[in-house]
Order: sequence, then structure tokens, then C-alpha cells
Amino acid sequence: MRNKITQLLADIPHLTAKNKEEVEALRVQLLGKRGSITMLFDDFKQAPAEEKRELGQLLNQLKVKAAEQINRLREQVEIQSEAAASIDTSMPGQAAPLGTRHPLSIVRNEIIDIFKHLGYTVAEGPEVEDDYHVFGALNFPPEHPARDMQDTFFVTTDENPILLRTHTSSVQVRAMETQEPPVRIICPGRVFRNEAISARAHCIFHQVEGLYIDENVSFADLKQSILYFSREMFGAEAQIRLRPSYFPFTEPSAEVDVSCNICKGKGCNICKYTGWLEIMGAGMVDPNVLEASGIDSQKYTGFAFGMGIERIAMLKWQVKDLRHYFENDVRFLNQFKTAM
Ligand code: DAH
Repeated sequence: MRNKITQLLADIPHLTAKNKEEVEALRVQLLGKRGSITMLFDDFKQAPAEEKRELGQLLNQLKVKAAEQINRLREQVEIQSEAAASIDTSMPGQAAPLGTRHPLSIVRNEIIDIFKHLGYTVAEGPEVEDDYHVFGALNFPPEHPARDMQDTFFVTTDENPILLRTHTSSVQVRAMETQEPPVRIICPGRVFRNEAISARAHCIFHQVEGLYIDENVSFADLKQSILYFSREMFGAEAQIRLRPSYFPFTEPSAEVDVSCNICKGKGCNICKYTGWLEIMGAGMVDPNVLEASGIDSQKYTGFAFGMGIERIAMLKWQVKDLRHYFENDVRFLNQFKTAM
């Protein structure tokens, strides 16, 4: 009997229960009518008289300990079930924060997609280029102001200086050097100019250059391609107009405007009350440029165009300050969640 009591005394602190039913089962098992402790009280009656005092004390201690442990377990399972009941499983979950594509990437991808439908493929070239590919082969005369230190970041200043490309037109040259016509490429990339950073200018920005060379490519093809692009990018109502311009690498050259998608041509502060927004430069590839890269200008003609990705994105979303694109403020970036 003594052994049984000491065994139970040792076991009691280790008893556990997962729910109300298990607590009740433990109570019945120990203190119920036929419970092991209750039975010990029956045995106690037959114990020798000289041990009764000590056994009685032990037995009472056991009963108290068992009752305490059962109460403790009962409280524990009650707290647990209250906590479980207070969880509202119909509440919306906490969404894990999700990244977004950068607005400039969204627009770049959109431009690529539009021209892919016209059969263009993506071409890339180095950001650190030589003077020849950025200027020389594109018919820039040696004294052209664009080569000036004030515009261009130079890496070296030898005979054919190494510099950071100031436009993606350099990729045209690389493509013409390596591909036989027909050439139909779109060249997205980063460009660099030594400009003071402001709401309208940055020293690093992005351009997309387009080039199409084949037999019988005409100015009408250029106009139609740009019109198609503008309608895909700015909506089916978009109109374009071409203003005569000058670039060393195209002849004739044009500046392309799209009808203002905000006021629909009526005039607003975005289009400065003209109804038109400038979106790109374009023109027929100058025969000198074709010849410089080994393309027969008697047989082939081509057109080229170049646009700023920041500018297209600003017009599309009415972003008024270019610097937003580079600051990576999530309050700005999160606004483009649905545009991906
Ligand atoms: N490279 C010109 C610039 O950075 C943009 C441009 C104008 C590209 C006319 C062209 C073009 O291909 O035909 O301002």
C-alpha cells in the first residue's frame, strides 16, 4: 500500500489532459467511486493499527495533491478553449506584402510587347561604349555639341574615347554591323547624360530605340508603325502628328507628337494647352549611316525612332516629377500594382 501511494504521489504532477473530457476521465480514474485513490481509502481500513497514523497522513496528502492537479488541468483546458473560441476564422487573413514591378519596367515591357506584334526582336548593346558607336557611325560631325563634355560622361579621352552611351541609337550600329537586312529590332536600355537632376531631367534615364531596314521601307511605313504603337499605348482614339526636325542619323527627321490623352486634344496643363504631347524622335536612316555599317544604301532603306521610357510613363500615368522613378518610395511604387 505504501508503495502504491508513493508511486501515485510521484505520478500526479506529470498528468496531462488535452480537453475537458480527458480531465474528467482523470478525475474518475483517481477520485471517482472506484478510482485508485478511493480504493486506497478502502484498503486503509485493513491496515495494521501501528501504521495507520502515517498511512492516513500520506493518503490525505495524495488526495489533496490529486484534486489540486485536476483543478489545475481543468483551468488550463478552459483557457485554451476560450482562446480557440475567440479566433474568428471568417476574418480576412493578413496578406503578406507583395512586391510590384517598377513602373519603368512595366512600360518597357509594354513597348516591347507592342513592337513584338510587328515582328521586332529585342537587341541590346553595352552601356559603356566607344565614341564611334555612339556618335561617329551615326553621322555626328567631329565638332557636334552632343559630344561635348557637358553632355557626355567620358571614361577615357583618347582618339576613340570610351564613354557612357548618351542614347540607345548606338545599338542600331551594333545591329547593322552584325546583321544582314532585313533588320527589325527594338533596343531598350539605360542611357547617361551629364544633366542636373530636376523634375524634368536626370543623369540616368531609359530609352527604347527602334530600327527597321529592308528593301522599299518608306516614310509611310514609319508613320503607320508609330500610329499603331501610339494607339496600343495611349488608346484607340490616339492621333499622331509629325513635325520636321533634325537628327544627324536620319534624313528626313521628325519629332512625333501624340494627341493629349488627358484632355483629348481640348487643351490642359499637361499638354500646355496645345492638345499634343511629344513622345519620340524618328526619321529615315541617313544613307551615310547605312554605308558606315556596310549596308548598301542603294538597295536598302530604313527608318529609326527613339523614345524615352520615363517620358512615356509620365504621360501614361501623369507622373509630374521624374525623380519619383528613382527614389523607390513604396507609396509611389504601390500605385502601379494593378498595372503589371
Ligand atoms: N537618339 C535620339 C535621342 O537620344 C532619339 C532618336 C531620334 C532616335 C530620332 C532615333 C531617331 O532613332 O530616328 O534624342
